[in-house]
Amino acid sequence: MRTVRLPGGDEVVALGQGTWRMGERRAAHKDEVAALRHGIACGMTLIDTAEMYGSGGAERVIGEAIRGQRDRVCLVSKVLPSNAGRKRMKRACEKSLKRLGTDYLDLYLLHWRGGVPLDETIEGFLALKEDGRIRRFGVSNFDTDDMEELWETPGGQGCQANQILYNLKRRWSEASLMPWSRRNGQPLMIYSPLEQGRLPASGALGAIAAARGVTVMQVALAWVLRHEDVFVVPKASLVAHVDANLGALDITLTDDELAALDKDFPPPEGGAPLEIL
Ligand SMILES: NC(=O)c1ccc[n+]([C@@H]2O[C@H](COP(=O)([O-])OP(=O)(O)OC[C@H]3O[C@@H](n4cnc5c(N)ncnc54)[C@H](OP(=O)(O)O)[C@@H]3O)[C@@H](O)[C@H]2O)c1
Repeated sequence: MRTVRLPGGDEVVALGQGTWRMGERRAAHKDEVAALRHGIACGMTLIDTAEMYGSGGAERVIGEAIRGQRDRVCLVSKVLPSNAGRKRMKRACEKSLKRLGTDYLDLYLLHWRGGVPLDETIEGFLALKEDGRIRRFGVSNFDTDDMEELWETPGGQGCQANQILYNLKRRWSEASLMPWSRRNGQPLMIYSPLEQGRLPASGALGAIAAARGVTVMQVALAWVLRHEDVFVVPKASLVAHVDANLGALDITLTDDELAALDKDFPPPEGGAPLEIL
């Protein structure tokens, strides 16, 4: 499995697994656990979740999936902005750990910016790190100006990743955030790389998939994975989808294919505002 180096020097796999919408339906539980376990067995050992997902339900599904193999997995969870003050963060983290059935998180992210000042959130992260509850911290849905502010905040440069929305239809970050992140050695962790399954099967995307004998989603994922310094967490609750996503690692799009995709999904011109889901 390809890896990406975090600023602290540790490596994470380039292709992990997302879990939004897991833990919401009892009928899907077995499939969700099986998909996550299959992904882990295939090397997609980074798992992304959040206290918000299924109101803790997704963390419970993961807890079951990683039982007996915690050490193989890199666990990422997110704290809600309303819990991002020092005291509330400690409580929120402990609840996440309990649901996940572990005593530490590999990476803990601020889900998006809210009303709590950044310095207080960083203090909370550093206290959890000191206690061994989390190994690393990061942010999500931060645009360039947020990252610049984070950089000015004491301890803020300890951030290990910024998780953002990026796919063929959502190229806003190419204008400013992606170059800023590269300049500052800050890897981007990509969410919704498949636009939640809503990418068109027509046009260049469909044509490239048909010509290669792969699916539209595999081409879309390969397009995100063409950046060697990002790591990606598509969500799949079916084993067949996990396998298909893994197959995207073997697809290297040609310059002609990339140019055809640029025509249908043009890159941003000039400034482009932060997009979130
Ligand atoms: N930080 C944030 O604010 C934020 C926001 C959104 C998401 N996220 C994280 O990023 C993860 C991924 O994003 P997402 O869940 O929004 O969307 P996504 O990964 O773009 O798409 C997930 C959807 O695509 C389907 N799918 C997956 N692989 C497929 C394949 N090979 N072929 C066809 N369909 C496929 C899934 O179906 P099945 O489930 O039926 O397999 C699901 O419906 C989330 O789960 C979450 O962990 C973070």
